[in-house]
This record gives sequence, structure tokens and C-alpha cells, in this order.
Amino acid sequence: MTIASLYHQTLKTTRIDEATLKALLSHIHHFSSNGDLFLHWNEEARDLDKFNLYLPRILLGEPLPYIVGLAYFAGLTFFVDESVLIPRPETEELVDHVSDYIQTRKTKNLLDLGTGSGCIAISLKHRFPYLDVWASDISQCALEVAHKNALSYGMNLQFFSGDWYEPFKNQTIKFDVIVSNPPYIAHPETVAKNVLDYEPHGALFSNGGISNHLIILQGAPNFLSPRGLLMLEIDENQMAMLSPIVHSLYEGAKIDFIKDLQGKYRFLRIELTA
Ligand SMILES: C[S@@+](CC[C@H](N)C(=O)[O-])C[C@H]1O[C@@H](n2cnc3c(N)ncnc32)[C@H](O)[C@@H]1O
Repeated sequence: MTIASLYHQTLKTTRIDEATLKALLSHIHHFSSNGDLFLHWNEEARDLDKFNLYLPRILLGEPLPYIVGLAYFAGLTFFVDESVLIPRPETEELVDHVSDYIQTRKTKNLLDLGTGSGCIAISLKHRFPYLDVWASDISQCALEVAHKNALSYGMNLQFFSGDWYEPFKNQTIKFDVIVSNPPYIAHPETVAKNVLDYEPHGALFSNGGISNHLIILQGAPNFLSPRGLLMLEIDENQMAMLSPIVHSLYEGAKIDFIKDLQGKYRFLRIELTA
């Protein structure tokens, strides 16, 4: 059976979505993109045993990245398991915004709060190898995953375990960049069932949605360099709640709420002015 016929037969006989099926077929055949998949579209499908093993798990809702232990983010490959959030495409945009700042300012160090798989910290270190990158998480299991990912890229990152700024409270260090994608979902009922069933709740939910942002916003002035950048991912509905708080905490700073590619206000960017 060709890859094309396996694809069409599976689409016809199951409720799998097209994107997941393409990703599964690409993974099984070791293709790095859908482009490669279509290049080999009419070739014989390989590894059907694996395909038949993974398909029922996908149909039960298990996310493919957890099944295969891999996620793709910002052009890199990350090991993932159920102790870390599967990196999201919006967060790639967060990395791009931080990259824009680093490219135009003298930046020597960076802190990633709530690093999870390490996707933000590692992809920024990959783009800017001279950066001194620190990363923290409250979950020890997540830190182990991030450490494994850093090792796989031969990187030397500084990892810390603890509640937001707590691991740094006795440090006098100042960071040129603080970046975070904190948990920001207020209501579990708004989340897809497979996310709720498989992804770590400590990475998803936050009291009232913005409680983690408030802790990060309040603490950042103690750790940011004079012209430093604080860049946070937010939920699309949180701008109205956050805006007055941010403007009163960061008087004089350059404050922007930025839309993602879906047109949703997804990022909060604060650049200190000395
Ligand atoms: C939304 S996930 C983001 C993970 C990763 N940075 C990403 O963008 O895919 C939030 C992360 O914050 C961590 N976290 C939750 N509460 C925390 C806290 N109080 N202190 C530090 N990290 C925390 C979670 O364990 C999780 O890894």
C-alpha cells in the first residue's frame, strides 16, 4: 500500500484529523516536513506495525508528541513527555519577538521563567549562543526534560527549581531579558478534552487567569537591567485586566500588547527606559 492510499483509507475509516495524520505519517517515515511527505506520496508505506500501534492511541485522544516523545518548535526538535506542556506555535512567535530585541540591543543574559520543555530558553540560546541563559520551573520533572533537551543540543544552561523568582532571591544578578509563558487558563471547561486529559495541569491553569502574570510583573523590576525587556505570553482576553496594572507598575516604560498571527492579543512586551 502506498503512503497516499494509507492516508486516504485512514481518513475515510477513522475520525483522525488531516494534520495529525500527516504528522503521524511523516514521523513514521522519518520525514522532516509535510513537503517531504508529498514528495514520497506514491511510495510504499513503511513501518505499518508502528502506524497500527500509534493510531488507536491517537484516536483515544493522546497527543502525537507524547506518543512519539517529540515536538517541533522554532525549527528545533524537543523531547517531550507528560510532565511538560507541548510547545505551541504562538510561543514560537514569542521567541521571534524576543529575538528582535536581542538583535538590536546589547544583550548578555536572559531568564526564562516556567521553562517546561526548555523550548524558549533553548531556541534562544541556539539563535544567540553567546547568551548566558538561565531557566527555572517549579516542576522538577519538567526541569529534567529541559535539561535533557539542552544536553541534546550540547548547551550549558543554568537551571533552577522553585516558585517564580524564589530561586533568585539571594542573587544580585540583573537580566537583560526576562521571558515567560506562564500558566494562564482560568477555566478548565474552556480547554479541549485531550489537553485536559494529557497535559500537566500545573502548566495550564492559573487562579483567575492572571495570578502568575501578576507575580512575574511585580518581581521583574528587581531582576531587570535598566533597559531590559520583559516579554510575556498572555491569553487573548487578558489585555483589559492587565493593562491598567502594567501601566501603574511600569510608569515610563514602553508597553505594548502584541497580536499573534491569529489576530489575538497574545504577548505583553515591556521595555524599560533608563
Ligand atoms: C505554559 S507552561 C510553559 C512551558 C514552556 N515555557 C513553553 O512555553 O512551552 C508553564 C510552565 O510554568 C511552570 N510553572 C507553573 N507554576 C510555576 C511557578 N509557581 N513557578 C515556576 N514555574 C511554574 C509549569 O511547570 C510549566 O512548565
